Amino acid sequence: MHNLITLKEWTPAQILDVIALAREIKKNPARFAKSMEGKTLLMIFEKPSLRTRVSFETGMTQLGGHAIFYDTSTSPLGAGKESVYDTVKTVSRYVDMIMARLFEHAKIEEMAREATVPVINALTNFAHPCQILGDLMTIQEKKKTLKGLILAYLGDGNNNVTHSLLYGCAKMGIHIRVGCPAGKEYSPDAGVVKDAAQVARKTGGTVKITHDPREAIQDADVVYTDSWMSYHVPPHKLDERVKMFTPFQVNAALMKRARKDAIFMNCLPALRGYEQTAEVIDGPQSVVFDEAENRLHIQKAIMLKLMEQRKRGVGEKG
Ligand code: CP
Ligand code: NVA
Repeated sequence: MHNLITLKEWTPAQILDVIALAREIKKNPARFAKSMEGKTLLMIFEKPSLRTRVSFETGMTQLGGHAIFYDTSTSPLGAGKESVYDTVKTVSRYVDMIMARLFEHAKIEEMAREATVPVINALTNFAHPCQILGDLMTIQEKKKTLKGLILAYLGDGNNNVTHSLLYGCAKMGIHIRVGCPAGKEYSPDAGVVKDAAQVARKTGGTVKITHDPREAIQDADVVYTDSWMSYHVPPHKLDERVKMFTPFQVNAALMKRARKDAIFMNCLPALRGYEQTAEVIDGPQSVVFDEAENRLHIQKAIMLKLMEQRKRGVGEKG
C-alpha cells in the first residue's frame, strides 16, 4: 500500500495512524520542515480546485519539498496526444509522488497501476479520500472520538464525497445515514453501500440510506452536506437537481433535529441557499473552515506516510 486511491484499501489502523500524524504535524509543523527535502510532487488537474491545489502545494513547501501544478488543458494528455500509461511512466522518472484530480476513476486506478512512485487521488467523480481523511480528523478533534458517532449526510448521495464518507465512517465505526432522493442518479453506488455495510458489521458502525431527510438527521452528531452540482455535473442539470435536492437542504429547522451539540460540515465549495442556508453554514455549529484547514495537515501526513511505506517497500510495485 503506497497509494491513496479510495479508503476501501486503507485499514482502520492506517486511517487512525495518518490522523494521529496529521494532528502531530498541526501541533508542531516546524519539526517536519525538512521531511520532504529534495522531493517533488506532481499535481495533475483536470478539474478546478481551491483547497486541494493550494493546500497540497503549501503543504509540500512546508515539508521542505516542491510541488508542480500541471493543468491537463495544457498537456499532451489533455489534448489526447499522449496516453495515461506513457504520461505516468515518464513522470515517474522525474518526480517522487503524483497526485491527480480527474473525471474518470478508472484513470486514477491506471495511474496507480503504472506509476512507480506513490499516487494520490485528489478527487475523481467516484471518490475523494483526502477530503474524508481530513474530515475524520476534524470530527475527532471536535468530538474527541469517532466510534459510535452518528453522521448524517444530506443531498447528492451519488458522488465522490458520499462514497468516501461511506468507506471512512464504516471503517471508523461511525453510524452513517445518507438522506438523498430515490433513484440511481441521486443514491450512492450499490457496491459501495454493500462494502461499507460489511465493514461496519465488524467495526460496530451501521449504514443507512433513507429518502427522508428528517430520519437521516435525527439525533446526529455530525451533519454533512456537499454541492448539488459537483464539478462533473453538466450545467443543464441545475433546475432538475435543485427540485430534487431542495427537501434535503440543511436549514435551521432541519438542524434542530440533530443533537444540540452537532457540528455542521461541508467540504466546500458551498452555495448558500442551495445545499444549506446561510444561517447554518455561517452559524455557530459550522466548522467548515476548520475542516478546510485540516486538508493541509492531513495531506502532509498522507504524503509522509506514503513516502515512508515506499521506503520500507510495503506493497512494492514492479
Ligand atoms: N473540498 C475540496 O476538495 O475543494 P476544492 O475543489 O477547492 O479543491
Ligand atoms: N462533490 C464535489 C466535491 C468538491 C470538492 C465535486 O465533485 O465537485
